[in-house]
Amino acid sequence: MLSNKKIILGVSGGIAAYKAVELTRLLTKAGADVHVIMTHAAQEFIAPLTFQTLSANPVHTALFDLIAEQEIGHISLADRADLFIIAPATANIIGKIAAGIADDMLTTTVMATKAPVLFAPAMNVNMYTNPIYQENEEKLRRLGYLFEAPVSGSLACGWEGEGKLAAPETIFDCAVATLTKKDLSGKKVLITAGPTREEIDPVRYISNYSSGKMGYALARAAQRRGAQVLLISGPTSLAKPYGVTVVTVTSANEMQREVMARVDACDVVIKAAAVADYRPELRNSTKIKKKGDSAIISLVKNPDILSELGKMDYGSRPRPFLVGFAAETDALAENAAKKLFEKRLDIIVANDVSKADAGFNVDTNRALLFFKDGSSTDCGLMSKDQLAVTILDHVISRLTEQPGA
Ligand code: PMT
Repeated sequence: MLSNKKIILGVSGGIAAYKAVELTRLLTKAGADVHVIMTHAAQEFIAPLTFQTLSANPVHTALFDLIAEQEIGHISLADRADLFIIAPATANIIGKIAAGIADDMLTTTVMATKAPVLFAPAMNVNMYTNPIYQENEEKLRRLGYLFEAPVSGSLACGWEGEGKLAAPETIFDCAVATLTKKDLSGKKVLITAGPTREEIDPVRYISNYSSGKMGYALARAAQRRGAQVLLISGPTSLAKPYGVTVVTVTSANEMQREVMARVDACDVVIKAAAVADYRPELRNSTKIKKKGDSAIISLVKNPDILSELGKMDYGSRPRPFLVGFAAETDALAENAAKKLFEKRLDIIVANDVSKADAGFNVDTNRALLFFKDGSSTDCGLMSKDQLAVTILDHVISRLTEQPGA
């Protein structure tokens, strides 16, 4: 995801410096070449060796390092960067950069870079709300510097409030979004994810093994490419993707209501949710008591949301580009092609959910993509994040071929 990207991570002196370690791990795991610069104060909180080990690059701590300065270290680092992140960014470092002070390796390098700069501030709540700090942040924002706002919580200094460093995962997502080509900019994408639950009584339901991972990966990937993303999600334990509007639902009927209420303004709809085809005919208002050796639950059909989208009259608005999924355990290609045709889709993503490394509740998937024009492609085994990118590549290339796109 970040291979061939050189990222400078500036770490300034705050208790949250330890979270920059996890951020380094996430960035290097995604393939980035990470170069860490630590201020003097940051080294009071964490040892440079930790970052050096994780990034596999020397850590820069001094402006006048004799070896690095053979090639004027701060300038060559600044020139080669694709992205500059400062996390945690203290009030002091933000104030210095806003005032144009360049008196150490970090401030000098950030001043010299042409790369986008992303600050993740962390400080005491009173420092954060201080008008001097706010004015500095405002000035930098006006100049095009990016900020990932701190979150509220209990702070190391004992205060409660805003000032806690954003989660490393959030800063990572923001970094990836900054580095991703915005080829879905101006597009509205509706994605469904996760299972639905069809209640039998107050303590039991019918559902499936969907974790939401595939749909959430699509939502993240579309957001990074500049789309306005609406994620309609069944029950999952996943964190809300960065920059995405999430609507949570439980049953197929609720999912149908939310999709239908919002589809009108959408350019693309991707239905990765595993919607229950049937629900109990009656929901008992009290817990069903154990009686006899067997029990029968009568089921009725749920609405097929994707079919409705395929057949619906959109009036004067163009029909959204429709991507469906097919979860199959046998006759993958035949069943998927049938669903593509019957549900009038543009693309269907067929996954063989009988394989241990594909389908439900795993981080990888194996998919065959079938297109409306009769062509198909085999994506092989890949991470759900990578598959999401591949699916969107196909959506974008076909979307731009459509009149009015
Ligand atoms: O969530 P994960 O753990 O990451 O797992 C991913 C996944 C296996 C759930 C995902 O890759 C997937 O295959 N999703 C679709 C599952 C499914 O319901 O497949 P289907 O073949 O039954 O349905 C075909 C299509 O119609 C799907 O796009 C589905 O969202 C849609 N559908 C189905 C039934 C229904 N009542 N309404 C629908 O809209």
